[in-house]
Amino acid sequence: MDYALLTEQLEALAREEGWYVPLLSNAAALLYHALPDLNWAGFYLVRGEELILGPFQGKVACIRIRRDRGVCGAAWRENAVQRVDDVHAFPGHIACDGASNAEIVIPLRDAEGRVRAVMDLDSPVLSRFTPQDQQGLERFARALERAVAWDG
Ligand code: SME
Repeated sequence: MDYALLTEQLEALAREEGWYVPLLSNAAALLYHALPDLNWAGFYLVRGEELILGPFQGKVACIRIRRDRGVCGAAWRENAVQRVDDVHAFPGHIACDGASNAEIVIPLRDAEGRVRAVMDLDSPVLSRFTPQDQQGLERFARALERAVAWDG
């Protein structure tokens, strides 16, 4: 996967508009259609004491995720990437779509270093996300953090 090109495409989109609603919406569409073997790609936004569903592509998903729940909650709580080969072996995994078997979740931080959202990719293929995918997706996430306007 050419993550450098994907990141350039994101940066081109961000030059037109940085507000998180259109930017995260197009980021989800870019990821979902560029990466093979995904069944969900999108964002959960930090709102108070929970994560709330943000822009995504894929099937209808859970709306709220508590900090102590699931792979997304772990990425937020630990402020660290969660790359999971088999979600069924992950304690507290939330099965929004029964087709999901592997998952990667990357926290997005603001300029002060606070986690504002998480980027979540799901796949029906076990061990879908390699360390190379993680590296490429982190590069994409860093570009998103630089470009996104969380308010207004
Ligand atoms: N599986 C995630 C929940 C979000 S959905 O997969 C879209 C989790 O355990 O956090």
